[in-house]
Amino acid sequence: MSQLENETLSRWSGNTPYWEKHRELIQHMFAPVTKALLDDAEVKPGDAVLDVATGAGDPALSAADEVGPSGKVIGIDPVPGMIEGARRAAANLGLKNTQFEIASADALPFPAESFDAEVSRFGVMFFPSPVDGVREMLRVLKPGKKLAFAVWHFLDNNPFHHSLARIVDRYIEPTALPPDAPDAFRFDSPGKLKSVLVEAGAAEPAESLLRFSIDAPLSVEDFWTMRMEWSEKLREKIAKLPAEQSRAVKEQVIRVFNEYHTARGMSFPAEVLIVTGMKSPIAQV
Ligand SMILES: C[S@@+](CC[C@H](N)C(=O)[O-])C[C@H]1O[C@@H](n2cnc3c(N)ncnc32)[C@H](O)[C@@H]1O
Repeated sequence: MSQLENETLSRWSGNTPYWEKHRELIQHMFAPVTKALLDDAEVKPGDAVLDVATGAGDPALSAADEVGPSGKVIGIDPVPGMIEGARRAAANLGLKNTQFEIASADALPFPAESFDAEVSRFGVMFFPSPVDGVREMLRVLKPGKKLAFAVWHFLDNNPFHHSLARIVDRYIEPTALPPDAPDAFRFDSPGKLKSVLVEAGAAEPAESLLRFSIDAPLSVEDFWTMRMEWSEKLREKIAKLPAEQSRAVKEQVIRVFNEYHTARGMSFPAEVLIVTGMKSPIAQV
């Protein structure tokens, strides 16, 4: 495993208890993204669906309802703690049509042409080689079937992220990332992920902008706690600050969060790109 892959995975591994703790909230906040992915990948009852980079188990657990008892959903993630949490969630929900396995996108433990649809929500930006990952996803997809990815559009258009990040950055210089490094905003520019799909050999690549709201039925204070728990990177940064500065960060963030607090709890306008492709129905020569 490369050093880059190790770093990416150890970042996710440290956070698995919080992803499991907040799983239902995450499912609720990103339900519009899940719906767009399942619609665009044309998931229907009886389908075999693959969810790549499933994390705490979504969209896989949501897809389980769509495919029904005659279908099957498999979620994969390279982080064992994520997969253990997803398995526990499926057991607690009494689901019989889901399976969760430890695997990376670029080495899927399935025979060619196994799936009727594939989805990946906020995962492809962390693949060491997105082209290799998409190519491997195409290998296990049946000809004529679709795959759909969700990635964040520009940070400026996503206050769920920037309301916190911009304030923290005032106190701690953000680390400059090498070009195209794994990061939440790696595919924020329209066309970038679509060109990865083209390079990997997907047919009919397409992209659409999804505008939705991230709704979390929480108080401002509880939302702050949840965001701190959910992001190890943020937690680590704030922990490095002297007590006075970390208090100042919290005060400023809470002030900004208040702008997004409604009678129903927190509500952030959000923008995500949905990028889709198809496995060519014609045999490749
Ligand atoms: C932002 S989380 C998304 C989790 C989930 N899909 C969701 O939307 O809630 C990103 C996930 O990508 C996974 N990941 C990182 N590198 C990966 C790789 N090479 N192949 C598959 N998944 C990977 C991480 O372990 C993590 O669970």
